[in-house]
Amino acid sequence: MDGNGRWAKTKGKFRIFGHKSGVNAVKEVSEAAAELGVQCVTLYAFSTENWSRPQKEVDALMELLVKTIRGELPTLQKNNIRLRAIGNLESLPTACRESLQDALNQTKNNTRLELILALSYSSKWDMVNAIKKIAEKVTLGELKASEINESTINNALSTYEWPHPELLIRTSGEHRVSNFLLWEIAYCEFYFTDTLWPDYTKEDLYEAILSFQKRERRFGKISEQILEKTEE
Ligand code: FPP
Repeated sequence: MDGNGRWAKTKGKFRIFGHKSGVNAVKEVSEAAAELGVQCVTLYAFSTENWSRPQKEVDALMELLVKTIRGELPTLQKNNIRLRAIGNLESLPTACRESLQDALNQTKNNTRLELILALSYSSKWDMVNAIKKIAEKVTLGELKASEINESTINNALSTYEWPHPELLIRTSGEHRVSNFLLWEIAYCEFYFTDTLWPDYTKEDLYEAILSFQKRERRFGKISEQILEKTEE
């Protein structure tokens, strides 16, 4: 969800105004994804590296998260959306952790869409934790090093419950992955748009999905093999 700061700057406003306006785009995307039958959406809301921003911005973002999570809870319930979270949640301020935990509990039986917030998240952080978990099992003799395979790693990551993403959208003209789901995006399709996050609408999501639908996903195979399979 990139470009909030620049969006605010073009309007002569403070960066936090951009973040606040970004909440509308969060609503647009969640609603459109639910309507389209998308099952999982992960929003990169706050990275491990974002803690290094000016304290004022960090505090304002945390406050905005609390306000948004509390304020949007009735809409999540109404739309049957289950809120989930990945990241170092223990590092979040108490009010943020509590409102998040409350929303996670209250929406746990919702089934239409899983809306996963990546908060205080970075993929390298997740991988380090996963490696520690696996190493611990090896130390305890519960797992042999030779038995470690892709599913051992999948299962040790915080994303173990969800399928790997098919489409990654980055806004604001930046062409970087920024420590996001590095393991999980091995075969993901990337979509980059110049639109700044606060301007992102349902139509922008439709465009990204239409582009995704035109792509041939070969997963290392050749085109003919893919066509054979679809013709069967
Ligand atoms: C990146 O833009 C955006 C963020 C670090 C924060 C995104 C958070 C929100 C939109 C609030 C969402 C709330 C919920 C509940 C998900 P940037 O600040 O890096 O923009 P810039 O690159 O233009 O400076």
